[in-house]
Amino acid sequence: MRSEQPSLFPGMTGPSPAPPAYAPFLPGVRAEESFLELRDLASLQQVMRECRRCGLRSGCRQMVFADGDPQASLMLVGEGPGQTEDELGLPFVGRAGQLLNQILAAIALRREEVYITNVVKCRPPGNRLPTPAEVLACRGCLEAQIRLVRPRIIVCLGLLATRTVLDPRATMGAARGQWTTRQGIQVIATYHPAALLRNPQYKRPAWNDFKSVRARLEEAAHGN
Ligand code: URA
Repeated sequence: MRSEQPSLFPGMTGPSPAPPAYAPFLPGVRAEESFLELRDLASLQQVMRECRRCGLRSGCRQMVFADGDPQASLMLVGEGPGQTEDELGLPFVGRAGQLLNQILAAIALRREEVYITNVVKCRPPGNRLPTPAEVLACRGCLEAQIRLVRPRIIVCLGLLATRTVLDPRATMGAARGQWTTRQGIQVIATYHPAALLRNPQYKRPAWNDFKSVRARLEEAAHGN
């Protein structure tokens, strides 16, 4: 209802301006698919437990939401759960996850101090790559996780995360090791830990990327 009282600011009567429209963080995501009505991660996780937007849930044991600190400065985004993740209900707990833990330890971080999630939350059968339709169905959840965690830094682990978070046409060759800032969040792409297990020659550049992440975290902690 309109107030009948005289305005404190003559000339500024009328309804207050509409709140700014939500600008999604991920390329191609529409505000409607970003679970904007959800105000916390627990509610989002509950919604995702019931999610059947794609066919993956019918072929896996459970939805794998995330692990780590929901208030972390650093968010890591992988591809999707593998067999061990599907069994345990946590991301990056298989071989690639053990390597990720070692990499984090090498930059003086414990897994509990970062927020870890994946582009798709349900295991693709036989560990195949998620299809574009499956990524499309799941990316609103990642969008909401980014909105609710509000990390200072996002690390995209591998090509699928890089294409989902940074640019659908990205290549690892061009994107790896490059920093981009979007909506105040700094984003870098690096190799997926599973790729490091298969290609030892990727370890050196990946190590440089994580050293750079450590340096940016320290800058952020000191308010730069
Ligand atoms: N690979 C991923 O991308 N995510 C996981 O959770 C495990 C392996």
